[in-house]
Amino acid sequence: MSPAKRATKPADPVAMAEHAALVAQIRAADDAYYVKDAPILSDASYDELRRQLAELEATFPALATPDSPSAKVGAAPARGFAKLTHRVRMLSLDNVFSTTEAAEFIDSVQRFLGGASPWPMLAEPKIDGLSANLTYVAGKLVSGATRGDGHEGEDVTANLRTVTDIPAELSGPGVPEFLEVRGEVYMSHADFAALNARQTASGQPSFANPRNAAAGSLRQLDASITATRPLRFFAYGWGETSSPLAATQSGAVVQLGAWGFPTNPRQRVCASVADLVTAYEALASDRADLGYDIDGLVLKVDSLALQERLGFVSRAPRWAVAWKFPPEQAETVLEGIDIQVGRTGALTPVARLRPVTVGGVVVTNATLHNADEIARKDLRIGDHVIVQRAGDVIPQIVQAVTARRPHEATPFAFPDTCPACGTAIARDEADAAGDVVRRCPNRTGCPAQARETLRHLVSRRAVDIDGLGEKQIELFFDAGLVREPADIYALATHRDWLLAQEGYGEKAVANLLAAIDARRAVPLARLLFGLGIRHVGETSAGLLARHFHTFEALAATATAATPGMPARAELLAIDGLGPAATEALHGFFTTPATRALVDRLIAVIEVIPEAPAATDSPVAGKTVVFTGSLETMTRDEAKAQATRLGAKVAGSVSRKTDLVVAGPGAGSKLKEAEALGVRVLTEAQWRELVG
Ligand code: IVH
Repeated sequence: MSPAKRATKPADPVAMAEHAALVAQIRAADDAYYVKDAPILSDASYDELRRQLAELEATFPALATPDSPSAKVGAAPARGFAKLTHRVRMLSLDNVFSTTEAAEFIDSVQRFLGGASPWPMLAEPKIDGLSANLTYVAGKLVSGATRGDGHEGEDVTANLRTVTDIPAELSGPGVPEFLEVRGEVYMSHADFAALNARQTASGQPSFANPRNAAAGSLRQLDASITATRPLRFFAYGWGETSSPLAATQSGAVVQLGAWGFPTNPRQRVCASVADLVTAYEALASDRADLGYDIDGLVLKVDSLALQERLGFVSRAPRWAVAWKFPPEQAETVLEGIDIQVGRTGALTPVARLRPVTVGGVVVTNATLHNADEIARKDLRIGDHVIVQRAGDVIPQIVQAVTARRPHEATPFAFPDTCPACGTAIARDEADAAGDVVRRCPNRTGCPAQARETLRHLVSRRAVDIDGLGEKQIELFFDAGLVREPADIYALATHRDWLLAQEGYGEKAVANLLAAIDARRAVPLARLLFGLGIRHVGETSAGLLARHFHTFEALAATATAATPGMPARAELLAIDGLGPAATEALHGFFTTPATRALVDRLIAVIEVIPEAPAATDSPVAGKTVVFTGSLETMTRDEAKAQATRLGAKVAGSVSRKTDLVVAGPGAGSKLKEAEALGVRVLTEAQWRELVG
């Protein structure tokens, strides 16, 4: 409901108390963000507080006093800097979060204009940095300030002069005698990472994100420190000018570019909501590749004459709005920590979270990796935590919001026994990050490990049985029907039991049994991978299959591979197979329980031997990297084909790479190949080469 349509009421004591609480929270968050450069709330939580405040003030307009945060931008300048008053107020932007809300914004603009068309609109990235106001007199930079509270900011002239993107002097025709230029100071991802590495190396605290790094760097009282920080600038607006820049927003930006300011290359002039949606989606999909943080798309009425008519309300212009991306970070509550038992017995703590939407997806749990990680982040049950999701990655907890830690929050005590079978937990070697992995050593008797092993065996990249997934395995396991791999192939003897289960009609049962039968013959590499032997992933399984060709040959060598024996040396000599995999294979085949398990499986299936790899193909012995998207085959097919022809498929480009096959959308790997002078083929050229 729009505020104007809502019935308004005089404020009551409850509303006043609620208002005071919201104001206090917003002020504290503003102070942390703008003055201390150390935010205490996620952007999403902050936006939510502001939304609640706006709603409350729309219902009880008496609460919307001039000192309410709803009428303010940012925070007053911090002590330590001189103040500079902006000649034209620096405004903020209201937010919308969906196509519907963006379209409503356009409608409201049109209504305000008495029905006149607001089109075209300019759509441009919302850079996640901090805004600055630069004053030029006779083309020379005379002062520069942060936004501050919108009326006055901090005088950071000396600091801004160290930013190489900001011209000290403007060139080109038509530079106004007096000109205020506005834009965003930001830090690129690469510079942020390098800065944090330097900070850590010199024992200084690292920055939480590029925005904090940019703000912290710009607001140094000693400008010589700012000079060592790689700050960048995009110009997107202006304040007071002695002569007009152009007739349109887009024209003015072109003009600023001509005078020497960097402007954002992703600006689009849009003629319809459909155009805006296209711009939004394109930007969202390229977001990770821009090299700097953005948090949405800014929509601006392009005509400056219309902007003038529209004006502004309290803290934001009526002619512009920020269409925010769904937040990739959000704040929620850590309600508990569960321990998951993996297929190799590794115990992984998993955070149970109060459900929260992150990046457009509801997140209810997040991985915590191990006990050391929990200790490092000092996470306690009951804590408010910041959750992050990027791309397809499993959600992670970035940090606890210690400022909001409840008294009763309790540190987590890692259990001493396996939650699935009660066996005392063993600690084994440290992982890549130096963290100790805790494990249930009950390899064959732990039900959780047995179930995970089965799930892995039937998964797509292993034996790949259609219609047999996590849910079904759990059902059959709990009923005691399938406890080990061989049992899967005996499911047909339980037809009546299956038919009695909910959701299993004649057809479903027939399909499932047919799918199992269809996978009674299993290629050696898939079987090896599916057995879930530690350190034997898909690649190692492929290497082993190509080396030994048959299951019997592999089993014999692995069994005989005690340290010092020739069989051990044979395994170690396989290029790409490490000592850890060698040891694990030997252990797997010499442990009576695992050996018996695999023998029972082998007795009921047929293992398809691996055909010897071609040695006469043009790519035999070559290392190949596939990158970008392929059009006539999937990535898996391409890899299988290359391997069949005797090539080695690698995931990254190095000096050892012989060939790179690059499809549309190829990025850094292609550049790497070009830099190293590696031969690059298109998909069509590759097909021609391998016939
Ligand atoms: S226009 C009157 N354009 O977002 C218009 N702002 O949430 C106000 N920002 O304070 C600014 N990219 O720090 C505008 N392309 C862009 C922007 C942008 C980032 C920041 C700016 C502003 C804040 C408002």
